[in-house]
Amino acid sequence: MPIIDADTIRKLVLTNNELFVPEMITKAIGQSMISSAGDISVEIRRLAALYRKFVKRDEPTPVSYLGDITIDAYTVHYLPRSTLIPKLLFLSLAYHPAFQCIKDEVNILDLGSGTGGVVLGLLDLFKDKPFSGIKINIMSCEKSRVALDRQLELLKYNGYNNFSVWHSCSDVVNTTIYDGGLSKLAPYDYIIAANLFTELPLDDINMLLSKLPSIMAPNAVLLIADPPRMYVDRLKICISETLRSLGLFQYYPCPPGYRCPKTKCKWVWLNFLFTCPDIEINGELLETAKILTTTWSIFCRSEHSIYDVLRPIDTELTWGVAVPYGNEYSLKEIMDYSICTADGPRGAKHTRENILSRDRSYIILRGSILGFNNDYSKVHSWHPVKGLE
Ligand SMILES: C[S@@+](CC[C@H](N)C(=O)[O-])C[C@H]1O[C@@H](n2cnc3c(N)ncnc32)[C@H](O)[C@@H]1O
Repeated sequence: MPIIDADTIRKLVLTNNELFVPEMITKAIGQSMISSAGDISVEIRRLAALYRKFVKRDEPTPVSYLGDITIDAYTVHYLPRSTLIPKLLFLSLAYHPAFQCIKDEVNILDLGSGTGGVVLGLLDLFKDKPFSGIKINIMSCEKSRVALDRQLELLKYNGYNNFSVWHSCSDVVNTTIYDGGLSKLAPYDYIIAANLFTELPLDDINMLLSKLPSIMAPNAVLLIADPPRMYVDRLKICISETLRSLGLFQYYPCPPGYRCPKTKCKWVWLNFLFTCPDIEINGELLETAKILTTTWSIFCRSEHSIYDVLRPIDTELTWGVAVPYGNEYSLKEIMDYSICTADGPRGAKHTRENILSRDRSYIILRGSILGFNNDYSKVHSWHPVKGLE
């Protein structure tokens, strides 16, 4: 069983301390396009406007991924950043000894897999040592046949057609698939639902979640990543409650046993820039999204938490997840933060002179976990990409 710690993964997935999308993936995307670059640009703008419209709506985003042009636009603009999601998951877990020892063969379920951003990211991560010594079996579940066909194309263009990826063209809210097609690879060690729940009604999500514990291995992990939308703010609290009632534990970001006093969590947990080449379509270059902004919650079947690793650094400190009001990349002198600690939320100011950081070249990123004393003269900060600072 290979032992894979955070330093090992950081070397594979970061360049100049930033996550990056390899050119092999963006080249394959360019090759798979059906529409012209001009038409794709128009469709990217339409999709972006639709997503934007639902940022402030407390209801699922209604999107149809059935047309080639929509698949082209999603694949060019959004797929590259989705490939980072599994990498960030393994990086987030690798700080904890309970997840450093990876089995020789692992089963992974990707729910709402679309054109395969998560699948491609996984295959890219597992192609290099020490991951390459592990056999991965992936079940990709997606209701759009058009999206799945494009995923198959992309796997082929990336040279992954001989890898163990199964495709189930099914609706994730159809309860029979969990005892049927998806049980083929169960129990799963990792289940990923990326950018899916924001498009589903809450009742359907609860039904789906109730099916997961029975297909999860004893040390299995569930990642739920969704874009920043008002509806997701409410989902975050409901989903945490549902999963706790189903016997799962939250690994990140909330402190263990934390019961959120709010009905909505308006914090976006991760927000960072990454590097990605533009995509060439018949000689024209199209830009991809270059910022990953995501609500990021990891749950596990066994009782593990990232705080198990961080708290022993200094048990006298208060530990909690920090979120700035506003944009942490702005050069404001003072930045207000809210920090959710085991004792509830509290506010803190972050100035150049003292308090949370003395040096603005060192940004406390959204979603960092902080350990601090009462006058903030002592502060430790951990972020999955940045590590411990
Ligand atoms: C925003 S895309 C995300 C694709 C991929 N997971 C990613 O992060 O790039 C959402 C995907 O979920 C799929 N989807 C939505 N509702 C679904 C359902 N009920 N069953 C299966 N797939 C669904 C859509 O067809 C679409 O491909």
